[in-house]
Amino acid sequence: MSRGKPATTARVLAQASGLRPGLAIVLGSGFGPVLERVEVAKEIPYAKLPGFPQPTVQGHSGKLVLGTLGGTPVAVLSGRAHYYEGHSMEEVTFAVRVLAEFGIRDLLLTNAAGGVNRRFRPGDFMRLTDHINFMGANPLRGPCPPGLTRFLDLSQVYDPTLGGLLDKAAKTARVRWHRGVYLALSGPTYETPAEIRAFGKLGADAVGMSTIPEAIVARHLGLRVAAVSCISNQAAGLSPHALSHDDVLATAKEASRHTAALLEEFARRYALETTNLS
Ligand code: HPA
Repeated sequence: MSRGKPATTARVLAQASGLRPGLAIVLGSGFGPVLERVEVAKEIPYAKLPGFPQPTVQGHSGKLVLGTLGGTPVAVLSGRAHYYEGHSMEEVTFAVRVLAEFGIRDLLLTNAAGGVNRRFRPGDFMRLTDHINFMGANPLRGPCPPGLTRFLDLSQVYDPTLGGLLDKAAKTARVRWHRGVYLALSGPTYETPAEIRAFGKLGADAVGMSTIPEAIVARHLGLRVAAVSCISNQAAGLSPHALSHDDVLATAKEASRHTAALLEEFARRYALETTNLS
């Protein structure tokens, strides 16, 4: 169980700075260098945020940054809690509940993923159009908070307007860009070649171990969600190489200049879009 109330932790954020961003970005494996482009107003280690689980994985540093990216106020979460680390689904999604309480309206989730689609190469990016939840767990299992729907519609988890902004940002940032379906497993093992063949037949384009729980909880709370995978490797059996986390991080690091440009451009366009709407 998580140790805190999201509203209590959101108050810590509100007291830390006057910044009230509408957009939050969760940085997955290899997306860390995006932080170099953030003009920081306040940096808060997860250890100082009640209820935030401590990430244990290399490549996930564990801090929340309030600042601006591409001129747009943002909350950036560097590091996330994974289900495979042994955290409960409640812990894995605690940060999203805090962000919603803090007033975040739009959430961009990022991750490193294996390419199941044979056209995908390491260093490519994929925007999620949909997902397949094979984690064996759902973050909404258990008591349903008053005022929230018990049976959440997931016909459109990933928001088309935010997706369109990502498409445009990808063009400007000149990244190799795909749209596709993300399938998540609990991990921590990588998959077998037989599993990857099966997932391909089921309609998956990329495979990973995160993002879906946060996306589901964010939708439950009424946030708009967008998500991007950096394809860090071809999935098991599609290349002659064995998979290793070091290789995943190395590829993600090589792609990091593109990653940073992509997210900065997205944030810049986001501000224009939300200004036009208000
Ligand atoms: N499988 C699962 N998760 C991953 C992979 C993969 O091939 N690459 C990066 N995260």
